[in-house]
Amino acid sequence: MDKLTIRDFDPGRKRVFVRVDFNVPVEDGKVVDDSRIRASLPTIRALLRGGAMLVLASHLGRPNGKVVDSFRLRPVAERLGALLRVPVRVTGDALGLGTQDAVARLKPGQVLLLENLRFHAAEEANDPGFAKTLASYADVYVNDAFGTAHRAHASTVGITQYLPAYAGLLMEREIKMLSTLMESPERPFAAVIGGAKVSGKITVLDELMKRVDTFCIGGGMANTFLVGKGHTVGKSLLEKDRVEDAKRILAAAEERGVQFLLPTDVVVAKEVTRGAEHKVVPAHKIPNSWSVVDIGPQTTAAFQAALEPARTIFWNGPLGVFEVPTFGDGTRAIARFLARKADEGATVVVGGGDSVAAVQQLGLTEKMSHISTGGGASLEFLEGRELPGIAALLDRDSGRQGHAEERTAEPASATSAGEGARP
Ligand code: 3PG
Repeated sequence: MDKLTIRDFDPGRKRVFVRVDFNVPVEDGKVVDDSRIRASLPTIRALLRGGAMLVLASHLGRPNGKVVDSFRLRPVAERLGALLRVPVRVTGDALGLGTQDAVARLKPGQVLLLENLRFHAAEEANDPGFAKTLASYADVYVNDAFGTAHRAHASTVGITQYLPAYAGLLMEREIKMLSTLMESPERPFAAVIGGAKVSGKITVLDELMKRVDTFCIGGGMANTFLVGKGHTVGKSLLEKDRVEDAKRILAAAEERGVQFLLPTDVVVAKEVTRGAEHKVVPAHKIPNSWSVVDIGPQTTAAFQAALEPARTIFWNGPLGVFEVPTFGDGTRAIARFLARKADEGATVVVGGGDSVAAVQQLGLTEKMSHISTGGGASLEFLEGRELPGIAALLDRDSGRQGHAEERTAEPASATSAGEGARP
């Protein structure tokens, strides 16, 4: 990786601002999936071991610049504190005298979490004044929020104008694993792509087309391809305005000799709800008033046979409506199969919220080579786009380190009131 990381500076007695992505599901005041919090623990622990004073910052949800109580970070702070076994105080606001004071009182080994950054519209507007204030809390900036790296916000981009900016260990791992897929995947390389809609996946399909040997396509998005091949899909989810894209992608696969597997049989249901009547039918005989809700057993077997020789597999998106357990057989079977492949030494990378949830539900998280914490971010990365939150970090070889020293200088006076602010 060509970015400097937390291994490249001494955090001892420094205030370190760590942008994390703690945008996690919270229900009834409790975090219901803490995987994004756990994913940043290596960075947080390494900095604490090194004697840093940590100012953590995240967004939660999309409160659009207003204070929304259900998006407060207290449940996140509680969960983080329990995992770290140190108390994590959360400020009442990301700005203000109370917060400045709390930052100034931090001691080595202590952790402070700023309240939801998106309670201020200035965060998403990448407002320079807001970025400068955030920068004034610290000596060094670390970005471990890969899931937010596709957003050019004050805490992901603007702040890097004022502080030397390093990648956290999660950020480093995400870049490394996803770059492997883009640059040097061991072959055969296969992509399993599902999810409801094809519209958000066209660019990534085009990009992966240049690299993969095999595509296995399922989920609602497969319907658009089935229609592109001349089938009808009954009442199923269909993006009519994407059928031409689907035809173009099918033709490109043919031209490049890329194996492109679509469902040959599907589970259809009268209603897309728990307990609805359902049956398996061939993909070319989908009844008019039924909806496709999963891949069928023949398709699952065909996908597994096609994936068996693969040495690298990327999976994004469930293959059916897996949140309804009856319609989750295909997704679960593929998740188990991929876990076995990873166990046997293949590189298996899972990206995207719902496929990650499926892997977690089955307790297979540890088996996979890498579970990306980024949904949108991992797709944009694989589309070959430059993610602003990564681009803003210090390059290893470009001489920007000198620039880093200049950047360090600016906020010194801003934190001069702070106790032990400077090393
Ligand atoms: C995510 O959950 O994908 C990230 O935290 C980014 O959130 P956003 O899509 O609201 O910017």
